[in-house]
Amino acid sequence: MAVVRGEFTSRFGFLMAATGSAVGLGNIWGFPTNAASNGGGAFLFTYLILTFALAYPALMAELIIGRYARANAVTALKTISRGPKSRLLAIAVGFVGILTVSLILSFYAIVSGWMIAFFFDPLARFLGMDGVAQWLTEDAELRNSIFVTLFMILTVFIISAGVRDGIEKWASRMMPSLIIILILLILYVLTLPGAMDGLRVYLVPDFSRVANPQLLVDAMGQAFFSLSLGVGTMLVYGSYISKQENLPTLGGLVALLDVGIAVLAGMLILPAMYVALASGVEIFDESGGLIAGPGLIVSVLPALFNSMDSVGMFVAMAFFLLMTIAALTSSISMLEVPVAYAIENHGVERRNAAITIGSVITVISLILVFNFNPLFDLVVTYTTEYSQPLLGLFFCIFVAWIWRRDDILQEIKQGCPEAEAGFFWKIWPFYVKFICPLAILAVYFQS
Ligand code: PHE
Repeated sequence: MAVVRGEFTSRFGFLMAATGSAVGLGNIWGFPTNAASNGGGAFLFTYLILTFALAYPALMAELIIGRYARANAVTALKTISRGPKSRLLAIAVGFVGILTVSLILSFYAIVSGWMIAFFFDPLARFLGMDGVAQWLTEDAELRNSIFVTLFMILTVFIISAGVRDGIEKWASRMMPSLIIILILLILYVLTLPGAMDGLRVYLVPDFSRVANPQLLVDAMGQAFFSLSLGVGTMLVYGSYISKQENLPTLGGLVALLDVGIAVLAGMLILPAMYVALASGVEIFDESGGLIAGPGLIVSVLPALFNSMDSVGMFVAMAFFLLMTIAALTSSISMLEVPVAYAIENHGVERRNAAITIGSVITVISLILVFNFNPLFDLVVTYTTEYSQPLLGLFFCIFVAWIWRRDDILQEIKQGCPEAEAGFFWKIWPFYVKFICPLAILAVYFQS
């Protein structure tokens, strides 16, 4: 089945797409509150170390496999296998990856749908449509169904257009906008009373917390989720990188941008929470910790925006636009995983693949919407706490224990001829072979 494969047209295009995948709700929502409740700067410090010592090597494993095989996860893992047993394992890991990422998308789309609804809320209020505004912000099945479907339509629309005209084009538009909106929001929030208290909570390290095993588990989970690892997303994006590009550098830039934007997001969220506190909004839960779950985004921050005068409307819309963009550049990378498989291995036309698979995932989302209470948390836990790290472990095993070392080196040397003598090749093979699998296992059993 000869299918013409897409390829990113430029380094910038790939960087925006991959950073777009990495930067999502996990960075803007998860990271800041994780940091605040785990010793502030101390968490940041641990997170930085884990990202570069563990998540970056795993990211490189996916990018290298992808670019070498120029194929979706199932085929790519099969390509680097060396016998019937490893080929079977390749198929299993590839399929579990596809299933996991589809399930991640099914819950991610629900939360992303809330972001769109909250984006329209200030507008409805401004137009005096208070009933509509209330409907938009009330957690109801009908609202959730409509917005999850809308979000999935946007995702399918972009993926249907392909690698260049869909993923690359839209990520290159959306990511710079995201960074600009984020910086403008930070600059504004930092001028408000209370902001500095939030900044202090966020940045002043409490090193007594670093040795806490829970902190390590949280930081590692955060790092893996944030770099979109283990489910074949980065592998598929890697398969669209030109052979002329220097992979270790590109991967390093993606990790750096991902961490950088998470750190920036903390400079928005924590100060905003303490500004809310200063204007009388409750920001602590019963146990005395900062409100971190859905309450943060759907009640604390909207309460803050409402307490601001007329600028509140613009700030609220900018914030939820930021969240929607972050979510969309991630969701497209999720949908691309099963779509690439359907196109390459079953000869399905891209648009049909995107619409069909997108519809199936939407149906799963709707099932979650209507059975929210037991199912939502279950799917989140199963996919992000169990499946994702374990799959990450298998990707490392494939690269370090199954694939031929020489093939890996040849692949890295394309676009980076001096690789063999470089720092990366001295350290990375050892990391993916021993350190990453052991660390993932340790964290896995901890949690
Ligand atoms: N990295 C994304 C985020 O931080 C989530 C994601 C997970 C994207 C897995 C793709 C695959 O929100």
